[in-house]
Amino acid sequence: MTSTTYATRRAQLETYFDRTAVEAWARLTSDAPVSRIRATVRAGRDAMRAELLSWLPADLSGRRLLDAGCGTGALAVEAARRGAEVVAVDVSPTLVGLAHERHAGLRLPGRLDFRVGDMLDDDLGRFDHVVAMDSLIHYRTPDIVRALNLLGRRTGASLLFTVAPRTPLLTAMHAAGRLFPRGDRAPAIEPVGERALRRRIGEEPGLAPFALARSRRITSGFYLSNALELVRR
Ligand SMILES: C[S@@+](CC[C@H](N)C(=O)[O-])C[C@H]1O[C@@H](n2cnc3c(N)ncnc32)[C@H](O)[C@@H]1O
Repeated sequence: MTSTTYATRRAQLETYFDRTAVEAWARLTSDAPVSRIRATVRAGRDAMRAELLSWLPADLSGRRLLDAGCGTGALAVEAARRGAEVVAVDVSPTLVGLAHERHAGLRLPGRLDFRVGDMLDDDLGRFDHVVAMDSLIHYRTPDIVRALNLLGRRTGASLLFTVAPRTPLLTAMHAAGRLFPRGDRAPAIEPVGERALRRRIGEEPGLAPFALARSRRITSGFYLSNALELVRR
């Protein structure tokens, strides 16, 4: 069961990524020129994607991977290039449409299946690996832990995700509203204290089969995100 705060936030994110910020997001995730500030975000996101992909087996043939909150699908396509059978899901129909358009013509060793919906939907099936890059950063810590719990039940090997670290810098950048494209209804990024998150994960019975393994913070100008890895014991 998900909470009302999760459902409310998911609805705000759908509005934001599907309408308010869709053009800015499409541009940020393309090769088109962007402002210097956005260029630091793009570079940081590229580094984060490369980091997360480096935590997965080099050969993903025959492995099922969920790209949870896939946006325009950059990580999903890289995983399919390495042979994975990818389900890439996002609440924004427009971003999923764009992802489909961008990657439709590619011949990939793996499979790429884009879906519109909630990453926590049981009907998506079971996976070897789940990756949630910057898609849980807008949720509160209890909702992140609940989401990890629900995703963990369907994960056979590893669950990779990012959170927004609680730092004075992020708080200042957040106040300046420059981390994401501006918009009246831009949902807040929820800074997460890593120690508290680790403790809550450790206390969550549903996550007992998993151990926290690698972690890595990526900072690039106005991009700041912390990757964590949960590995099935
Ligand atoms: C900051 S973007 C990151 C997109 C992509 N992972 C990337 O790194 O390019 C966050 C994405 O998560 C999606 N999202 C947020 N909550 C979601 C949920 N509960 N289920 C599916 N998608 C979700 C948003 O619609 C948005 O496209």
